[in-house]
Amino acid sequence: MTLGTNSTKVAPSILAADFTKLGEQIRLAEKGGADWIHIDVMDGHFVPNLTFGPMIVSTVNQLTDKTLDVHLMIENPDFFLEDFVKAGADRLVVHYEAVVHLNNIINRIKKLGAKAGVAINPSTPIDVLKEIISDADQILVMSVNPGFGGQRFIESSYRRLSEVKALVPKGKEVYIEVDGGVAPENASQLVRAGANVLIAGTSVFKSEDIPGAVRKLKAAQ
Ligand code: DX5
Ligand code: ZN
Repeated sequence: MTLGTNSTKVAPSILAADFTKLGEQIRLAEKGGADWIHIDVMDGHFVPNLTFGPMIVSTVNQLTDKTLDVHLMIENPDFFLEDFVKAGADRLVVHYEAVVHLNNIINRIKKLGAKAGVAINPSTPIDVLKEIISDADQILVMSVNPGFGGQRFIESSYRRLSEVKALVPKGKEVYIEVDGGVAPENASQLVRAGANVLIAGTSVFKSEDIPGAVRKLKAAQ
């Protein structure tokens, strides 16, 4: 079973935050009811952008008690799993497209004591999740091509979320995250399509009312 719509979680992505006052920005997101803090790790190889490593994860861990949802947009994520868990990652999400031995990596993440997720790019068929979904704690559906914040939402993501939801085995709870171009305007449709975790960077941190933006996302059903 998937989680009920009234339990929609919001995971603001700090990629869009003002890093000169990161602690304050995270506090504002928490004030609005943020459930998880989403951290986008990029390596300049898997995606054409560079962002954070374990050191920033550790910094964010000192700034908040919230669950840290760490999205690894990197090649060879297996090299770094331990470092990220040590830095405070509660949930580690690897890309289907970036790894060969996915089952092995999911098991390693769990052994390290974190929750394990699989992210999937907009051009990858959802069917490839069929064998792994019963082992994963969460699936992250990319609704833009990974690499940058502030991109335009890809409309086929609604159908893709429904396809993921249909793959969830009976009796199993899986978080279905949607990431990219998520805003109060499309949040309800995303939840109805099957998302129960809304990841949002621009629509939260570029808003003049950060708590209000989170509240609007949380109200989606
Ligand atoms: C993009 C990242 C996203 C990004 C979303 O590759 O995975 O988490 O922060 O940003 P917005 O909400 O601005 O599309
Ligand atoms: Zn992300």
